[in-house]
Amino acid sequence: MGVITKLPQQVCDDCAATTNDRDAAPRCRACGGLLSLVHPPPEVRGAALRASFADACCARPSRTASGVWRFGAIVHPGAVDDAVSHPEGNTPLIGREAIGAWAGVDGLLLKHEGHNPTGSFKDRGMTVAVTQARRIGARAVACASTGNTSASLAAYAAQAGMTGLVFIPEGQVALGKLTQTLAYGARTLMIQGDFDACLRLVQEAGESLGVYLVNSINPFRLEGQKTIVLELLQQLDWDPPEWLVLPAGNLGNTAAFGKALEEAKAWGLITRVPRLVSVQAAGAAPFAAAFERGFDHLDTLTPETLATAIRIGAPASYDRAVRAIRGTDGLVLSCTDSEILEAKAVIDRAGVGCEPASAASVAGVRKLRAQGTIKEGDRVVAVLTGHILKDPGILQRMHVEDGPLSSNANRPILVAPTLAAIEAVLTSLDR
Ligand code: F0G
Repeated sequence: MGVITKLPQQVCDDCAATTNDRDAAPRCRACGGLLSLVHPPPEVRGAALRASFADACCARPSRTASGVWRFGAIVHPGAVDDAVSHPEGNTPLIGREAIGAWAGVDGLLLKHEGHNPTGSFKDRGMTVAVTQARRIGARAVACASTGNTSASLAAYAAQAGMTGLVFIPEGQVALGKLTQTLAYGARTLMIQGDFDACLRLVQEAGESLGVYLVNSINPFRLEGQKTIVLELLQQLDWDPPEWLVLPAGNLGNTAAFGKALEEAKAWGLITRVPRLVSVQAAGAAPFAAAFERGFDHLDTLTPETLATAIRIGAPASYDRAVRAIRGTDGLVLSCTDSEILEAKAVIDRAGVGCEPASAASVAGVRKLRAQGTIKEGDRVVAVLTGHILKDPGILQRMHVEDGPLSSNANRPILVAPTLAAIEAVLTSLDR
Protein backbone atom coordinates (compact mmCIF):
# COMPACT_ATOMS: atom_id res chain seq x y z
CA MET A 1 0.00 0.00 0.00
CA GLY A 2 1.36 3.43 -0.92
CA VAL A 3 1.19 5.30 2.34
CA ILE A 4 3.95 7.74 1.39
CA THR A 5 4.86 8.80 -2.10
CA LYS A 6 6.88 11.94 -1.37
CA LEU A 7 10.02 11.91 0.79
CA PRO A 8 10.28 14.06 3.92
CA GLN A 9 12.51 17.13 4.12
CA GLN A 10 14.81 18.34 6.87
CA VAL A 11 13.40 21.64 8.15
CA CYS A 12 15.07 24.06 10.57
CA ASP A 13 13.11 24.46 13.82
CA ASP A 14 14.16 28.12 14.05
CA CYS A 15 14.18 29.66 10.55
CA ALA A 16 12.22 27.01 8.58
CA ALA A 17 14.98 26.68 5.98
CA THR A 18 14.62 23.34 4.21
CA THR A 19 17.06 20.78 2.88
CA ASN A 20 16.62 17.31 1.43
CA ASP A 21 16.69 14.03 3.33
CA ARG A 22 20.30 13.31 2.33
CA ASP A 23 21.95 16.45 3.74
CA ALA A 24 24.56 15.45 6.37
CA ALA A 25 24.71 18.86 8.11
CA PRO A 26 24.12 18.39 11.85
CA ARG A 27 22.37 21.77 12.10
CA CYS A 28 20.72 24.32 9.82
CA ARG A 29 23.29 25.75 7.39
CA ALA A 30 21.52 29.11 7.45
CA CYS A 31 21.12 29.79 11.19
CA GLY A 32 22.55 26.86 13.19
CA GLY A 33 19.12 25.77 14.47
CA LEU A 34 18.15 22.14 15.02
CA LEU A 35 16.72 20.21 12.08
CA SER A 36 13.53 18.14 12.12
CA LEU A 37 12.32 15.65 9.56
CA VAL A 38 8.99 16.93 8.26
CA HIS A 39 6.88 14.31 6.51
CA PRO A 40 4.34 15.09 3.82
CA PRO A 41 0.96 13.99 5.20
CA PRO A 42 0.43 10.28 4.45
CA GLU A 43 -2.04 9.52 1.67
CA VAL A 44 -4.11 7.38 3.98
CA ARG A 45 -5.03 8.25 7.55
CA GLY A 46 -6.80 6.84 10.56
CA ALA A 47 -7.80 3.18 10.36
CA ALA A 48 -6.18 2.71 6.94
CA LEU A 49 -2.86 4.08 8.19
CA ARG A 50 -3.07 1.91 11.30
CA ALA A 51 -3.76 -1.11 9.10
CA SER A 52 -0.78 -0.27 6.89
CA PHE A 53 1.56 -0.91 9.85
CA ALA A 54 0.10 -4.38 10.20
CA ASP A 55 0.55 -4.91 6.45
CA ALA A 56 4.15 -3.71 6.71
CA CYS A 57 4.75 -6.44 9.28
CA CYS A 58 4.09 -9.06 6.67
CA ALA A 59 5.55 -7.33 3.64
CA ARG A 60 9.29 -7.80 4.10
CA PRO A 61 11.48 -9.81 6.43
CA SER A 62 13.38 -6.82 7.83
CA ARG A 63 10.16 -5.01 8.64
CA THR A 64 8.55 -8.07 10.08
CA ALA A 65 11.17 -8.30 12.75
CA SER A 66 11.73 -4.64 13.65
CA GLY A 67 9.46 -2.55 15.85
CA VAL A 68 11.01 0.52 14.22
CA TRP A 69 10.93 -0.26 10.49
CA ARG A 70 7.36 -1.57 10.74
CA PHE A 71 6.51 2.14 11.01
CA GLY A 72 9.10 3.05 8.36
CA ALA A 73 6.61 4.90 6.15
CA ILE A 74 6.28 7.64 8.78
CA VAL A 75 9.81 7.33 10.15
CA HIS A 76 12.29 7.27 7.25
CA PRO A 77 10.47 6.15 4.10
CA GLY A 78 13.48 6.64 1.84
CA ALA A 79 15.54 4.06 3.70
CA VAL A 80 13.16 1.24 4.58
CA ASP A 81 14.66 -1.19 2.09
CA ASP A 82 18.26 -0.61 3.20
CA ALA A 83 17.86 -0.52 6.96
CA VAL A 84 20.74 -1.44 9.25
CA SER A 85 18.48 -3.34 11.61
CA HIS A 86 19.42 -5.75 14.41
CA PRO A 87 16.29 -5.96 14.61
CA GLU A 88 15.09 -3.76 17.46
CA GLY A 89 11.89 -2.62 19.19
CA ASN A 90 8.91 -4.91 19.79
CA THR A 91 9.44 -4.35 23.51
CA PRO A 92 6.85 -5.54 26.04
CA LEU A 93 4.24 -3.54 27.92
CA ILE A 94 4.50 -5.01 31.39
CA GLY A 95 2.02 -4.84 34.27
CA ARG A 96 3.07 -5.90 37.78
CA GLU A 97 0.70 -5.47 40.68
CA ALA A 98 3.47 -4.74 43.19
CA ILE A 99 4.84 -1.83 41.15
CA GLY A 100 1.38 -0.38 40.52
CA ALA A 101 0.56 -0.70 44.21
CA TRP A 102 3.75 1.10 45.24
CA ALA A 103 3.09 3.91 42.78
CA GLY A 104 -0.58 4.06 43.78
CA VAL A 105 -1.81 3.42 40.23
CA ASP A 106 -3.83 0.29 39.52
CA GLY A 107 -2.99 -1.18 36.15
CA LEU A 108 0.23 0.83 35.75
CA LEU A 109 1.96 -0.36 32.57
CA LEU A 110 5.70 -0.28 31.93
CA LYS A 111 7.03 -0.03 28.39
CA HIS A 112 10.35 -1.78 28.91
CA GLU A 113 12.85 -0.46 26.41
CA GLY A 114 15.62 -2.38 28.17
CA HIS A 115 14.49 -5.29 25.99
CA ASN A 116 16.16 -3.73 22.94
CA PRO A 117 19.28 -5.43 21.52
CA THR A 118 21.83 -3.30 23.41
CA GLY A 119 19.54 -2.91 26.41
CA SER A 120 18.15 0.60 25.96
CA PHE A 121 15.73 2.66 23.87
CA LYS A 122 18.69 4.17 22.01
CA ASP A 123 18.63 1.30 19.51
CA ARG A 124 15.40 2.63 18.04
CA GLY A 125 17.02 5.91 17.09
CA MET A 126 20.36 4.38 16.23
CA THR A 127 19.03 1.94 13.62
CA VAL A 128 17.63 4.94 11.73
CA ALA A 129 20.65 7.22 12.22
CA VAL A 130 23.22 4.60 11.20
CA THR A 131 21.05 3.59 8.25
CA GLN A 132 21.10 7.26 7.24
CA ALA A 133 24.88 7.49 7.75
CA ARG A 134 25.43 4.55 5.40
CA ARG A 135 22.89 5.92 2.93
CA ILE A 136 24.77 9.22 2.59
CA GLY A 137 28.20 7.56 2.50
CA ALA A 138 29.53 8.92 5.82
CA ARG A 139 33.09 7.83 6.70
CA ALA A 140 32.34 7.48 10.41
CA VAL A 141 29.64 8.07 13.01
CA ALA A 142 30.19 9.87 16.30
CA CYS A 143 28.35 10.83 19.46
CA ALA A 144 28.76 12.16 22.98
CA SER A 145 27.12 9.92 25.54
CA THR A 146 26.36 9.11 29.14
CA GLY A 147 26.77 5.50 28.03
CA ASN A 148 23.69 4.07 26.36
CA THR A 149 23.96 6.01 23.11
CA SER A 150 27.61 4.99 22.84
CA ALA A 151 26.80 1.31 23.38
CA SER A 152 24.10 1.50 20.72
CA LEU A 153 26.25 3.44 18.28
CA ALA A 154 29.04 0.91 18.73
CA ALA A 155 26.75 -2.03 17.93
CA TYR A 156 25.09 -0.49 14.87
CA ALA A 157 28.37 0.92 13.50
CA ALA A 158 29.84 -2.58 13.81
CA GLN A 159 26.89 -4.04 11.92
CA ALA A 160 27.19 -1.42 9.19
CA GLY A 161 30.96 -1.87 8.94
CA MET A 162 31.57 1.78 9.82
CA THR A 163 34.00 3.45 12.19
CA GLY A 164 32.33 4.50 15.44
CA LEU A 165 33.76 7.27 17.62
CA VAL A 166 32.34 8.09 21.04
CA PHE A 167 33.02 10.84 23.57
CA ILE A 168 32.18 9.86 27.14
CA PRO A 169 32.64 11.67 30.47
CA GLU A 170 35.48 10.18 32.49
CA GLY A 171 34.32 8.23 35.54
CA GLN A 172 30.62 8.83 34.86
CA VAL A 173 29.64 5.96 32.59
CA ALA A 174 28.16 2.82 34.15
CA LEU A 175 30.22 -0.34 33.76
CA GLY A 176 27.78 -2.28 31.56
CA LYS A 177 27.63 0.55 29.02
CA LEU A 178 31.38 1.09 28.86
CA THR A 179 31.96 -2.63 28.47
CA GLN A 180 29.50 -2.85 25.58
CA THR A 181 30.97 0.16 23.81
CA LEU A 182 34.49 -1.22 23.96
CA ALA A 183 33.46 -4.78 23.08
CA TYR A 184 31.48 -3.73 19.99
CA GLY A 185 34.61 -1.89 18.88
CA ALA A 186 33.87 1.84 18.92
CA ARG A 187 36.90 4.09 19.42
CA THR A 188 36.24 5.48 22.87
CA LEU A 189 37.48 8.88 23.99
CA MET A 190 37.20 9.41 27.73
CA ILE A 191 36.91 13.14 28.16
CA GLN A 192 38.01 14.89 31.35
CA GLY A 193 34.73 16.72 31.67
CA ASP A 194 31.00 16.04 31.97
CA PHE A 195 28.51 15.00 29.27
CA ASP A 196 27.82 18.61 28.32
CA ALA A 197 31.52 19.12 27.58
CA CYS A 198 31.54 15.92 25.51
CA LEU A 199 28.58 17.13 23.46
CA ARG A 200 30.21 20.50 22.76
CA LEU A 201 33.41 18.78 21.64
CA VAL A 202 31.82 16.17 19.43
CA GLN A 203 29.83 18.83 17.60
CA GLU A 204 33.01 20.78 16.88
CA ALA A 205 34.79 17.61 15.77
CA GLY A 206 31.85 16.58 13.62
CA GLU A 207 31.88 19.85 11.74
CA SER A 208 35.62 20.04 11.14
CA LEU A 209 36.33 16.34 10.54
CA GLY A 210 33.33 15.44 8.41
CA VAL A 211 32.09 12.78 10.80
CA TYR A 212 28.33 12.12 10.86
CA LEU A 213 26.83 13.05 14.24
CA VAL A 214 24.25 10.71 15.72
CA ASN A 215 23.44 12.42 19.01
CA SER A 216 19.77 12.92 19.72
CA ILE A 217 19.77 16.30 18.00
CA ASN A 218 20.10 14.23 14.83
CA PRO A 219 16.63 14.31 13.24
CA PHE A 220 16.80 10.67 12.14
CA ARG A 221 17.48 9.52 15.71
CA LEU A 222 14.28 11.21 16.83
CA GLU A 223 12.30 9.56 14.05
CA GLY A 224 13.35 6.14 15.34
CA GLN A 225 12.56 7.06 18.93
CA LYS A 226 9.03 8.07 17.90
CA THR A 227 8.32 4.37 17.51
CA ILE A 228 8.35 3.83 21.29
CA VAL A 229 5.11 5.82 21.30
CA LEU A 230 3.73 4.34 18.08
CA GLU A 231 4.38 0.82 19.26
CA LEU A 232 2.84 1.28 22.69
CA LEU A 233 -0.22 2.90 21.14
CA GLN A 234 -0.49 -0.06 18.79
CA GLN A 235 -0.18 -2.42 21.77
CA LEU A 236 -3.09 -0.54 23.39
CA ASP A 237 -5.19 -0.85 20.20
CA TRP A 238 -4.68 2.87 19.62
CA ASP A 239 -6.60 3.75 22.78
CA PRO A 240 -4.13 6.11 24.51
CA PRO A 241 -3.58 6.23 28.28
CA GLU A 242 -4.22 9.47 30.15
CA TRP A 243 -0.53 9.77 31.09
CA LEU A 244 2.75 8.86 29.43
CA VAL A 245 5.75 9.23 31.73
CA LEU A 246 9.46 9.08 30.85
CA PRO A 247 12.86 9.90 32.35
CA ALA A 248 14.54 12.95 30.84
CA GLY A 249 18.11 14.18 30.46
CA ASN A 250 19.21 15.68 27.15
CA LEU A 251 15.49 15.83 26.19
CA GLY A 252 15.78 14.07 22.84
CA ASN A 253 13.28 11.45 23.89
CA THR A 254 10.80 14.00 25.24
CA ALA A 255 11.07 15.78 21.88
CA ALA A 256 10.58 12.52 19.95
CA PHE A 257 7.53 11.59 22.04
CA GLY A 258 5.99 15.01 21.42
CA LYS A 259 6.53 14.70 17.66
CA ALA A 260 5.09 11.18 17.61
CA LEU A 261 1.96 12.28 19.44
CA GLU A 262 1.50 15.40 17.35
CA GLU A 263 1.72 13.39 14.13
CA ALA A 264 -0.40 10.53 15.48
CA LYS A 265 -3.18 12.98 16.27
CA ALA A 266 -2.85 14.90 12.99
CA TRP A 267 -2.95 11.70 10.94
CA GLY A 268 -5.89 10.16 12.79
CA LEU A 269 -3.99 7.33 14.46
CA ILE A 270 -5.43 8.52 17.77
CA THR A 271 -8.21 10.93 18.65
CA ARG A 272 -6.85 12.04 22.01
CA VAL A 273 -3.31 12.81 23.15
CA PRO A 274 -1.96 11.54 26.49
CA ARG A 275 -0.35 14.05 28.85
CA LEU A 276 3.41 13.70 28.61
CA VAL A 277 5.43 13.80 31.83
CA SER A 278 9.22 14.21 31.85
CA VAL A 279 10.94 13.22 35.06
CA GLN A 280 14.43 14.46 35.88
CA ALA A 281 16.84 13.65 38.70
CA ALA A 282 16.77 16.46 41.28
CA GLY A 283 20.49 17.17 40.89
CA ALA A 284 20.18 17.43 37.10
CA ALA A 285 16.83 19.11 36.61
CA PRO A 286 17.20 22.26 34.51
CA PHE A 287 14.08 21.36 32.49
CA ALA A 288 11.96 20.87 35.63
CA ALA A 289 13.20 24.21 36.98
CA ALA A 290 12.32 25.95 33.71
CA PHE A 291 8.86 24.35 33.75
CA GLU A 292 8.27 25.76 37.25
CA ARG A 293 9.00 29.22 35.83
CA GLY A 294 6.57 28.77 32.94
CA PHE A 295 9.45 27.91 30.56
CA ASP A 296 10.66 31.51 30.57
CA HIS A 297 14.26 30.42 29.93
CA LEU A 298 16.70 27.56 30.54
CA ASP A 299 19.32 27.89 33.29
CA THR A 300 22.06 25.35 32.63
CA LEU A 301 23.79 23.84 35.66
CA THR A 302 26.50 21.45 36.80
CA PRO A 303 24.66 18.13 37.12
CA GLU A 304 24.99 15.61 39.95
CA THR A 305 23.02 12.38 40.30
CA LEU A 306 23.60 8.68 40.79
CA ALA A 307 21.41 8.14 37.72
CA THR A 308 24.38 8.76 35.44
CA ALA A 309 22.36 8.25 32.23
CA ILE A 310 20.56 11.53 32.90
CA ARG A 311 23.43 13.43 34.52
CA ILE A 312 23.04 16.36 32.11
CA GLY A 313 22.96 20.09 32.88
CA ALA A 314 22.59 21.69 29.43
CA PRO A 315 19.93 19.73 27.52
CA ALA A 316 20.37 20.12 23.77
CA SER A 317 16.73 19.52 22.79
CA TYR A 318 15.24 22.01 25.27
CA ASP A 319 13.15 24.01 22.77
CA ARG A 320 11.69 20.90 21.18
CA ALA A 321 10.92 19.41 24.57
CA VAL A 322 9.11 22.59 25.65
CA ARG A 323 6.95 22.22 22.55
CA ALA A 324 6.27 18.58 23.42
CA ILE A 325 5.20 19.39 26.97
CA ARG A 326 3.07 22.37 25.91
CA GLY A 327 1.53 20.46 23.01
CA THR A 328 0.37 17.63 25.25
CA ASP A 329 -0.64 19.69 28.30
CA GLY A 330 2.24 17.88 29.94
CA LEU A 331 4.27 18.27 33.10
CA VAL A 332 7.89 18.19 34.19
CA LEU A 333 9.05 17.21 37.66
CA SER A 334 12.10 16.00 39.48
CA CYS A 335 12.75 13.19 41.97
CA THR A 336 15.64 12.86 44.38
CA ASP A 337 18.19 10.09 44.01
CA SER A 338 16.70 8.29 47.01
CA GLU A 339 13.22 8.41 45.47
CA ILE A 340 14.65 7.07 42.21
CA LEU A 341 16.57 4.29 43.94
CA GLU A 342 13.52 3.35 46.01
CA ALA A 343 11.51 3.01 42.79
CA LYS A 344 14.30 0.96 41.28
CA ALA A 345 14.31 -1.40 44.27
CA VAL A 346 10.55 -1.96 43.83
CA ILE A 347 10.91 -2.53 40.07
CA ASP A 348 13.84 -4.89 40.60
CA ARG A 349 12.13 -6.87 43.36
CA ALA A 350 9.09 -7.38 41.14
CA GLY A 351 11.41 -9.30 38.83
CA VAL A 352 11.30 -6.61 36.13
CA GLY A 353 14.48 -4.64 36.80
CA CYS A 354 15.88 -1.51 35.18
CA GLU A 355 18.81 0.86 35.40
CA PRO A 356 18.60 3.79 37.85
CA ALA A 357 17.61 6.54 35.38
CA SER A 358 14.74 4.41 34.12
CA ALA A 359 13.22 4.19 37.57
CA ALA A 360 12.75 7.97 37.57
CA SER A 361 9.57 7.49 35.54
CA VAL A 362 7.96 5.27 38.16
CA ALA A 363 9.19 7.52 41.00
CA GLY A 364 7.52 10.39 39.13
CA VAL A 365 4.24 8.47 38.78
CA ARG A 366 4.15 7.84 42.53
CA LYS A 367 4.75 11.51 43.26
CA LEU A 368 2.05 12.72 40.87
CA ARG A 369 -0.44 10.20 42.24
CA ALA A 370 0.38 11.14 45.86
CA GLN A 371 -0.24 14.81 45.11
CA GLY A 372 -3.50 13.96 43.33
CA THR A 373 -2.43 15.12 39.87
CA ILE A 374 -2.85 11.60 38.52
CA LYS A 375 -6.41 10.70 39.49
CA GLU A 376 -7.87 7.40 40.65
CA GLY A 377 -8.67 5.33 37.56
CA ASP A 378 -6.32 7.22 35.21
CA ARG A 379 -4.44 4.91 32.86
CA VAL A 380 -0.70 5.40 33.04
CA VAL A 381 2.20 4.10 30.97
CA ALA A 382 5.71 4.66 32.34
CA VAL A 383 8.73 4.04 30.13
CA LEU A 384 11.66 2.04 31.48
CA THR A 385 14.52 3.20 29.30
CA GLY A 386 17.35 0.80 30.15
CA HIS A 387 18.16 -2.73 31.33
CA ILE A 388 19.04 -3.68 34.91
CA LEU A 389 22.49 -4.96 33.87
CA LYS A 390 23.57 -1.59 32.50
CA ASP A 391 24.67 -0.33 35.91
CA PRO A 392 25.73 -3.21 38.16
CA GLY A 393 27.80 -0.89 40.35
CA ILE A 394 24.70 0.90 41.63
CA LEU A 395 23.71 -2.15 43.67
CA GLN A 396 26.63 -1.62 45.99
CA ARG A 397 25.44 1.90 46.62
CA MET A 398 21.79 0.88 47.07
CA HIS A 399 22.51 -1.95 49.43
CA VAL A 400 25.04 -0.33 51.73
CA GLU A 401 24.76 -1.45 55.30
CA ASP A 402 23.15 1.20 57.49
CA GLY A 403 22.54 3.29 54.40
CA PRO A 404 19.15 4.83 53.64
CA LEU A 405 18.07 1.73 51.78
CA SER A 406 19.54 -0.89 54.04
CA SER A 407 16.12 -2.49 54.55
CA ASN A 408 16.26 -3.43 50.86
CA ALA A 409 19.73 -4.86 51.19
CA ASN A 410 20.17 -8.27 49.63
CA ARG A 411 23.76 -9.20 50.24
CA PRO A 412 25.22 -12.58 49.30
CA ILE A 413 25.29 -15.04 52.17
CA LEU A 414 28.58 -16.76 52.86
CA VAL A 415 28.05 -20.44 53.68
CA ALA A 416 30.18 -23.48 54.37
CA PRO A 417 29.91 -26.08 51.58
CA THR A 418 27.60 -28.37 53.55
CA LEU A 419 23.93 -29.26 53.34
CA ALA A 420 23.54 -28.43 57.03
CA ALA A 421 24.77 -24.88 56.48
CA ILE A 422 22.32 -24.39 53.60
CA GLU A 423 19.47 -25.79 55.67
CA ALA A 424 20.30 -23.35 58.44
CA VAL A 425 20.05 -20.48 55.97
CA LEU A 426 16.70 -21.72 54.62
CA THR A 427 15.34 -22.04 58.13
CA SER A 428 16.38 -18.47 58.91
CA LEU A 429 14.58 -17.28 55.76
CA ASP A 430 11.36 -19.05 56.80
CA ARG A 431 11.03 -16.86 59.87
N1 F0G B 1 17.14 6.94 30.28
C1 F0G B 1 18.30 6.38 29.89
C2 F0G B 1 18.59 4.99 30.32
C3 F0G B 1 19.21 7.12 29.10
O1 F0G B 1 20.35 6.55 28.73
C4 F0G B 1 18.89 8.44 28.74
C5 F0G B 1 19.81 9.23 27.93
C6 F0G B 1 17.66 8.97 29.16
C7 F0G B 1 16.82 8.18 29.94
C8 F0G B 1 17.24 10.34 28.84
O2 F0G B 1 16.93 10.53 27.49
O3 F0G B 1 18.56 12.31 26.98
O4 F0G B 1 16.68 11.81 25.44
O5 F0G B 1 16.26 12.90 27.63
N2 F0G B 1 20.97 8.87 27.61
C9 F0G B 1 21.86 9.59 26.69
C10 F0G B 1 23.06 8.76 26.37
C11 F0G B 1 22.15 10.98 27.07
O6 F0G B 1 24.10 9.32 26.00
O7 F0G B 1 23.00 7.53 26.43
P1 F0G B 1 17.10 11.98 26.83
